[in-house]
This record gives sequence, C-alpha cells and structure tokens, in this order.
Amino acid sequence: MRLGVLVSGRGSNLAALLAAEATGRLAPAEIAVVVSNRPDAGALEVARAAGKPVAVVDHRDFADRDRFEHALLAALATHDAEAVILAGFMRVLTPTFVAAFPLRIVNTHPSLLPAFPGHDAPAQAVAHGVKVAGVTVHFVDTGVDTGPIIAQRAVPVLATDDAAALHRRIQVEEHRLLPAVARALAQGRLVCEGRTVVIRAAPGAADADADQLL
Ligand code: GRF
Repeated sequence: MRLGVLVSGRGSNLAALLAAEATGRLAPAEIAVVVSNRPDAGALEVARAAGKPVAVVDHRDFADRDRFEHALLAALATHDAEAVILAGFMRVLTPTFVAAFPLRIVNTHPSLLPAFPGHDAPAQAVAHGVKVAGVTVHFVDTGVDTGPIIAQRAVPVLATDDAAALHRRIQVEEHRLLPAVARALAQGRLVCEGRTVVIRAAPGAADADADQLL
C-alpha cells in the first residue's frame, strides 16, 4: 500500500516511519511521497535524506481551503498514494479530502483522546494536572482529533514534567505506534465497526493478541 505522508513540522514521526520501512517493519506499506504545507519544515530534509519524493503545497499560496486541498490531492495522486498518514500535519481537512480516502487517513495525536484535542496537547495535560497522558493513533474524520481510535499508549506524567519533557516521552511511544498502525492498515487488519476499530490478528496469530501485535 502506497502511503502519502503529510507533515508540517520537524518530522520525527516521519523518521520513525522511514526507519520502520528501512528495516522491513512497514511492509506491505511503503512511503510513496512526503507532502509539507510548510516550505521550511524540517521533515522535508528528513524525507530528502532518505531519498523520498517530496512536494510542498503551501496553504498560504491558495485563496481558500478547497483549492489548497485540491493541490494536496493532486500531489498525492501524482505518486499514486492509496492512504494518507498525518505525521504532525497541522491543517484541518475538509469533508472533500476525507471522502477521497475513506478510512484511509490516519493521524497521530499526543494525548489520550478524547482528552486534550487540538494544539499543545502535552501542555494541556500538564496544565490540567492529569497523572496519565499518552498518544492516540486514529482514523481521521471531519472533526479535530475526533475520528475512531485505532490504538493508544499511556505515559505517566511525572511531577517534574513540563510540556516539552512530557511530549518527548510521549513521542517515544508515538514513534513505535504509528509505524505499527500504518503496517496494520496496509495489511487490511483494521476494521471499523461504528466508532470501534477492531484490530484483526496477523495470519497465524491468536485474535486475543491482535492489539499486542501492533
Ligand atoms: C507529534 O507529537 C504529533 O502527535 C503531533 O505533532 C507532533 C509532530 O512531531 N500531531 P514531528 O514533526 O513528527 O516530530
């Protein structure tokens, strides 16, 4: 399954996906193209260093969201992307874009959703005083961080944590979980039953182990 990876930032999740691909842990998924809405995103360098095709579709160059997304979809189509991974992509997608990849768009968010959607989730968690934070990988719908949850990993909040320290520890888990979900998606193991995502076991594994196999 050919993946288009959308980025806006420094690209540590992209690096995790590339490392998984390089070591055979992403197959049958493969990264076909990396698209950034920011020309200065560090993720572009990460992609180039790995020899991946890149495209910049700067939202500021477009009069409205529809035209921006049309260009995004064109960049993905050029590289025959069959699914989309949002790896730190900071734009909300419209129903038109979401409908172009039904249950084929995955986002990673640094909180245990539905707690703390939107920007600066680790800072929100620290400010709220929660004792457990984490990461959520979910299908994208037309809301902000509202789509069906595929997998979550919890991370304890330490008394000494500020938002940056907590985010760093969340990202350790995130960098494991996102490539594992991308692989499961490409293997056809993610089945959506209403809001509930069932992770089917890999061939030869017991169903009860499915979530652990991510
Ligand atoms: C990640 O923590 C992701 O959950 C959030 O934005 C951050 C992007 O980091 N959506 P990076 O660009 O992958 O390093």
